[in-house]
Amino acid sequence: MTKAPMQRIDNILKNETYRFLMGMIRERELARIFCCHGLDHCLDVARIAYMLDMDEGAGIDRELIYAAALLHDVGRADPDNTGMEHHILSVRYAGDILRQCGFEEDETEIICDAIGSHNTDGADRHGLAYFLYKADKLSRNCFDCAAIDECYWPDSERNKGIIY
Ligand SMILES: [Fe+2]
Ligand SMILES: [Fe+2]
Repeated sequence: MTKAPMQRIDNILKNETYRFLMGMIRERELARIFCCHGLDHCLDVARIAYMLDMDEGAGIDRELIYAAALLHDVGRADPDNTGMEHHILSVRYAGDILRQCGFEEDETEIICDAIGSHNTDGADRHGLAYFLYKADKLSRNCFDCAAIDECYWPDSERNKGIIY
């Protein structure tokens, strides 16, 4: 059965700030040999996170999953050159964008919590935060990567095949 469209996700895709930040990331990563952080990556993360959610029967609202995935790396743009870690900046931008796109305060808090812990070591993650973190890792095609010899990911963490 076809799912209903996700209006608030479409709002994010059209959001001026979102487009600006993602455009910056795209420009900056044009010559990058390692994994990139554009819309393709965000959609891979969204879809894998949704599959993880379905597998575990968690039943998290699909719009929350997609919103977290679309926004989790926007801080990498860092247009003001703050030098802050990207997950912290992503939370900052995500809050404003989510409110502009029709998300309620409690939803914004859940999404921002997940984004804020997606890049921190040893965080105790549950629900959306866990799915986002896991999907971010699983989304990378290490098994077909031309830059594998220069990648900082330890061999034990590399994806050796496709799970999702
Ligand atoms: Fe990230
Ligand atoms: Fe990511």
